[in-house]
Amino acid sequence: MRKIVIAGNWKMNKTVAESVTLASEVVAAASGIRNVVVAIAPTYLALAKVADVLAGSNVKLAAQDVHWENQGAFTGKVSADMLKEIGVDYVIIGHSEQRTYFGETDETVNRKVRKVQSLGMTPIICIGETLAERREGRLESVLTTQVNGAYAGLSGDDALRTVIAYEPVWAIGTGVTATDDEAQQAHAFVRGLLAGLYGEDVAQSISIQYGGSMKPENAAGLLAQKDIDGGLIGGAALKADSFLGIVAPGEALSK
Ligand code: 13P
Repeated sequence: MRKIVIAGNWKMNKTVAESVTLASEVVAAASGIRNVVVAIAPTYLALAKVADVLAGSNVKLAAQDVHWENQGAFTGKVSADMLKEIGVDYVIIGHSEQRTYFGETDETVNRKVRKVQSLGMTPIICIGETLAERREGRLESVLTTQVNGAYAGLSGDDALRTVIAYEPVWAIGTGVTATDDEAQQAHAFVRGLLAGLYGEDVAQSISIQYGGSMKPENAAGLLAQKDIDGGLIGGAALKADSFLGIVAPGEALSK
């Protein structure tokens, strides 16, 4: 059975002190959650302190990015070893903001995925089309290129240790969510791509999150879709009550 994985991507929000406070609130609110994997991704600066807050809880620690090299002259970057040492479980890779503003490519996504996996952490691989690409009828070709690129060289066993986040770029931070049907169709297509690469059994075992203006009001509808296995949450993850308002329907559905 696939796990429902709901992760809060805090992006460039919250100071270290604010991150510790929010993490403590999430830990308290999520203490009864048994069936959903809950994760939070604070700024790099707060990872170490948030790791202390999460110790012994059922909330997992995630990072927002990583570099693919072990160490060296890469000013401003953070290596997978550094994340591993702190106790990071999940690493978000290929977020559309990374792709749009910081030159992330399918090739760098693939390098990061391999590096993170080599240290036993789980990549959350972000894919998704822009509004222009969708309007031009390129949804499927964009997703195909992104999935093929991210999984290049990965075995079926490696693929089982990944999570995908389908995030239509036009829905991120805009308040416009994909409808349940639109999201389900894209997720089913992505699962079909995975089946083509690795077979149906592997494809059926990989969790595919939805991301893009997901909030308590629309979470139940999205999470009830056959191929939607969680969420990657931006704005609504910045408050514990709205974040848990998304986790709760996931918990109810997976009982
Ligand atoms: P919003 O939930 O703010 O739309 O952000 C989604 C996202 O980009 C999560 O990675």
